[in-house]
Amino acid sequence: MAERTLVTSALPYANGAVHLGHAVEYIQTDIYVRFLRSCGQDVVYFCADDTHGTPIEINAAKQGIPPEQFVARFHDEHQRDFRDFDIRFDYFHSTNSPENRHYAELIYGRLKDAGDIDRRDIEQTYCEKDKRFLPDRFIRGTCPNCKSADQYGDACEKCGKTYNPTDLIDPKCALCGTPPVRRNSVHLFFKLSRHADFLQEVLKRPGFIHPGLATQLQGFFEKGLADWDISRDGPYFGFAIPGETDKFFYVWLDAPIGYIATTEKWAKESGRFPDALAYWGKDAPTRIVHFIGKDIVYFHALFWPAVLKVAGFHIPNEIKVHGHLTVNGEKMSKSRGTMVAARDYLDLLDPSYLRYFYAANLGAGVEDLDLNLKDFRLRVNGELVNNVGNLANRALSLLAGPLEKKLAPGRAEGAGRKLVEDALARVPEVREAFEKLEYRNAIKVITEIASTANAFLQTAAPWALVKKDAEAARADLSDAADVAYLVGALLAPVTPRVSEKLFAQLGAEPLTFQALATAKYPLLDRTRPLGTPEPLLPRLEEERVNAIIKVPAGTPAAEPAKAGGKDKKTEKKPVEAKSPEGAPAVPTTQASPGAGAAEGAPAADIEYADFAKVVLKAGRIVAAEKVKGADKLLKLDVDLGEGSPRTIVSGIAEAYAPEALAGRRVVVVANLKPRKLKGIESRGMLLTAGSGGKDLSLLEPGDVPPGAEVK
Ligand code: MSP
Ligand code: ZN
Repeated sequence: MAERTLVTSALPYANGAVHLGHAVEYIQTDIYVRFLRSCGQDVVYFCADDTHGTPIEINAAKQGIPPEQFVARFHDEHQRDFRDFDIRFDYFHSTNSPENRHYAELIYGRLKDAGDIDRRDIEQTYCEKDKRFLPDRFIRGTCPNCKSADQYGDACEKCGKTYNPTDLIDPKCALCGTPPVRRNSVHLFFKLSRHADFLQEVLKRPGFIHPGLATQLQGFFEKGLADWDISRDGPYFGFAIPGETDKFFYVWLDAPIGYIATTEKWAKESGRFPDALAYWGKDAPTRIVHFIGKDIVYFHALFWPAVLKVAGFHIPNEIKVHGHLTVNGEKMSKSRGTMVAARDYLDLLDPSYLRYFYAANLGAGVEDLDLNLKDFRLRVNGELVNNVGNLANRALSLLAGPLEKKLAPGRAEGAGRKLVEDALARVPEVREAFEKLEYRNAIKVITEIASTANAFLQTAAPWALVKKDAEAARADLSDAADVAYLVGALLAPVTPRVSEKLFAQLGAEPLTFQALATAKYPLLDRTRPLGTPEPLLPRLEEERVNAIIKVPAGTPAAEPAKAGGKDKKTEKKPVEAKSPEGAPAVPTTQASPGAGAAEGAPAADIEYADFAKVVLKAGRIVAAEKVKGADKLLKLDVDLGEGSPRTIVSGIAEAYAPEALAGRRVVVVANLKPRKLKGIESRGMLLTAGSGGKDLSLLEPGDVPPGAEVK
């Protein structure tokens, strides 16, 4: 059993802002780290900027600044973005650091000593005007397959075919537009092919990687593992290869070494260990876990373990791979404004909403995750703001007000005690879900716990009881507060700031998973005074949510979201080849965003976006009475999980007797403008089917709690 765990997220390129796609990975990792820490484990979390390579070197040159200065800007910006998303690294370093140079040279030296470096003369595409070799992404031309113009040198974005840059028709340098030539140069190769047996064994190690991916990676072995080109000719921003002239380590050689370099920097600065070997030493008692996206699997699952083995370091124990983020069912796109920068989100919304939504949708698999903005708003409002928020608010506001911030002692028996004990019995389910990265299951159990407590309060009705028997109400509310405390603890890895607020309002210490392992009823120290209750989080408003997408000027309006938000097109095969050099940041012709949008649709059809404006919710009728002077109308109190019921006036009096309605579940249009009927303000509308009058039936949502969204 490992004594300590080292967790990493992939190192973001210091070539642009962090966006909400990146955030999937960093939030997923951060939740895991916070969870392990809450369990009492010794865990460190590292990341760094990935600073080397052609795109960065070229972008810096275009701005007329040295690459060191170019990447330094992103170093600060990235750190601020991560911090404001509540992503807490133990250290955020840079691959352009002395520690990284040291380990890159050390590791290369060992690969060389082991006879694992080969020199080969290869022919490549070269621009005589720019005096540089051109990575595939810096060559544009016509696709040999479908004849689409202006495609990259490695693959066609129109037909999806992959090819060699030499196959392109009429190839041009993406920087200057001149036709490139072919030129020879000596490159250094790591003999990956010698390590096929070792890698196949690693892939079979339990927990190393998702079994589906291990199977897929087998394909590389069947084709025969190719050796890996680890050198690039100048001009290049990277570390010069010792003993060579004008040759540099390829960015993907030194990027993962950045994990080790960051460990070293942290070890020395914190004084915790003399160097990185405390974690990365071959036999160090550690568990090393990398979180990465599906596009960089082979760098981490094939090259990296082989390099580490030859160089005599610790092999990563687990590689956690996630899918990609889509927005409103489509691949993120700059021109549609869906490549939302972390900062643009943070300028408008609290990070807790997104952290919650990602957690509520993340499993352990590599499927893509969709940020459908309507889903996002409804789910967060229904579950986090209403369900969890209401529980806290209902439990605390009476206790803090009429009951003077005093809790009742625990009870020997009864429904309240059972409520808390039943909730505690579900902690192992939540724990297991976090452990297995099945965050959505954890969220499901947590929201069920909160719903059950809300239902308990609904039945106990302490707001009425408090007038007759204040101590009984105090006891019920204290038990509900216990559950709120538990919910705060379970949610803490996901939404740390919400939990902190909740703990403060409860006047309690943070509750950890470690403490929960042996916790018993009552959870709160019932002798301590409560804090001051206030709403945990405001509701997400549609306008604010939609404002995170800023369509760049000069682009036609964004296409509407697709119904359901899942677009089969975006469900890619898990292992995608990532162009190792990334895309050049030179302007290329924009894909026409209007193509494929519905045109000339019949007038009766509405856009999904129009339907999406209607907020439908499950409600429960609490009380019903006739409206004086109106035969058709009933005045209803409907619980929508909002704390206090809403008054809704509905034209169902001919079909339903008021006595028959209490407790009935209904579907409510929840965002209609309030309207006065017979002098009563009605806040919503019930959905019915039928022709009217006596022929009306109320639609029923089934067995869901009040406030559940209807989609
Ligand atoms: N610099 C390399 C990683 C080197 S690790 C030694 C890189 N950088 S990146 O900035 O392009 O991506 C960083 C991480 O974010 C990767 O794991 C990548 O998969 C992830 N994501 C980038 N876009 C993403 C989405 N749209 N959705 C989810 N994750 C995404 O790759
Ligand atoms: Zn050129």
